[in-house]
Amino acid sequence: MVELKDFLGLIHPFLAVAFIFPLIGLVSYFSLQTRQRRLAAKEGKSKIPANVGTEHLRLGRWLGNGVVLLALIGLAYPIYTKIVWAEDTFRAWFITLIFAATIASLVFLNKARTPLWRGVFATLTGAGLVILGSQPEIFRRGFEWYVSHYYYGITAALLMIFSLAIFPDIYKDRSNRWRNTHIVLNCVALLLFVGQGFTGARDLLEIPLSWQQPYIEQLYINNCQTQDCTVQPADAQNAEESPNS
Ligand code: HEM
Ligand code: HEM
Repeated sequence: MVELKDFLGLIHPFLAVAFIFPLIGLVSYFSLQTRQRRLAAKEGKSKIPANVGTEHLRLGRWLGNGVVLLALIGLAYPIYTKIVWAEDTFRAWFITLIFAATIASLVFLNKARTPLWRGVFATLTGAGLVILGSQPEIFRRGFEWYVSHYYYGITAALLMIFSLAIFPDIYKDRSNRWRNTHIVLNCVALLLFVGQGFTGARDLLEIPLSWQQPYIEQLYINNCQTQDCTVQPADAQNAEESPNS
């Protein structure tokens, strides 16, 4: 039986696969065209249309914002499905406030014109992501951090925030320092995105449906990877041990 909770868990992977990944393809394609055109234009005429740089930027801004929002949705699902409001009221409201503040910072980052304000709002957006990511509800896979969907995802989102903050400097800088920094960092981001495709699919495979969860927990508790065992959810076990209670 699929419950509402299980369905909500699909929103983040669905948005990633249906919208963000196609956008990554488009942005990467235009980035190569931009580079080829710039390098060819040095030697003479290029057949590549003049607007590829603008198109890369237009779609790149959608991508940057999209990845940050996607990461926030990825964080919101485990937090809000696990936190108990009645027990943790202050933290629940605090987290809600941080979500709102992070989205607001992202909006202001898009509107900011001066380097100072871009820096301020980029830092605030990034700090929001890190604070939310540090909540105990998030499974960070610290014991296998080098294949962690969380660490890859947050790093990729921070790199997107950095791109959103510095892109005007790419045009201003004649020495191409910002341009080259942008290329190196975003090639890393591209690798991380590929990693997200793999680790995200693996995580989907590992997360049980709600009705399966009590059984799966027992499989881990009883170490069933290494030995034969029969499992019952904890509730059923308790009922069996003390049938009168
Ligand atoms: C997957 C992510 C991305 C990759 C792989 C990427 C890569 C590149 C590459 C290779 C170039 C061409 C540099 C050259 O001329 O040699 C470029 C240019 C540029 N990128 Fe990106 N980028 C990405 C995301 C973004 C994002 C998110 C933004 C903005 C928010 C952005 C803004 C720009 C700008 C403004 C330029 C200069 C375009 C021009 O010369 O007209 N990029 N990028
Ligand atoms: C640009 C791509 C992506 C980014 C930036 C991203 C980011 C995140 C972040 C920050 C989290 C919260 C931390 C965590 O639980 O690991 C998360 C959770 C998750 N993501 Fe992604 N993700 C991306 C793509 C995907 C894809 C393609 C899939 C699946 C096909 C996926 C499936 C999941 C799942 C299953 C969770 C776990 C939710 C939970 O713990 O209950 N993600 N993602």
